[in-house]
Amino acid sequence: MRLLKQLFWVFLTLGILFGILELFMFDIIKIDWVSFMEIQPSYRPMEDPLPPPSQSVPVEGAIVIPGMGAPENPTTADDASLARGAELFAINCQMCHGADGAGSGPVAPFLIKFKPADLTSAVAQSKSDGSMFLTITNGVDGRMPALNENLTVSERWDVVNFLRTLKPAE
Ligand code: HEC
Repeated sequence: MRLLKQLFWVFLTLGILFGILELFMFDIIKIDWVSFMEIQPSYRPMEDPLPPPSQSVPVEGAIVIPGMGAPENPTTADDASLARGAELFAINCQMCHGADGAGSGPVAPFLIKFKPADLTSAVAQSKSDGSMFLTITNGVDGRMPALNENLTVSERWDVVNFLRTLKPAE
């Protein structure tokens, strides 16, 4: 009996101590611990977006001016542009459109409803540079993702220049 009584008090004290500890653990009583990462001048998402510096102008120009139709290609298809385009195509497009552009990339079998377009085809090549640019920018609704966040404006033009070099396999 005595032992049970003693055990009761031991567990009660431990329980109360643990309970008090818990108040701090779950921030019911909040202590400002010194923590490191969050103590810094930083912006959280959606908080006060920084305005662009005064007098700055976008170097790449407006992407598309509504009502003005497809944009003109400002980038000449020189070796540097084509090399950049080939690399960007390998990173952003090849998994669907395939290394040769014919539409049989490794992801293509998993696209059930709409297969990636054959970019070497006469139909695809008949599109203007501006129209290809807009396809990359906006994607094709429910078929191809918009890649405007993956590629800057000038990178998209480099890819367009590269698309022009794709030829159907003989
Ligand atoms: C997730 C797979 C996927 C990725 C990644 C992808 N595409 Fe596509 N793309 C498609 C599909 C699917 C279509 C066909 C849409 C349709 O049926 O109209 C398409 C269509 C196109 C067309 C239109 C062809 C035409 O005949 O008008 C162009 C141009 C094109 N893609 C270029 C690109 C480029 C350039 C990239 C990389 C920057 C890219 N795509 C990345 C899946 C993809």
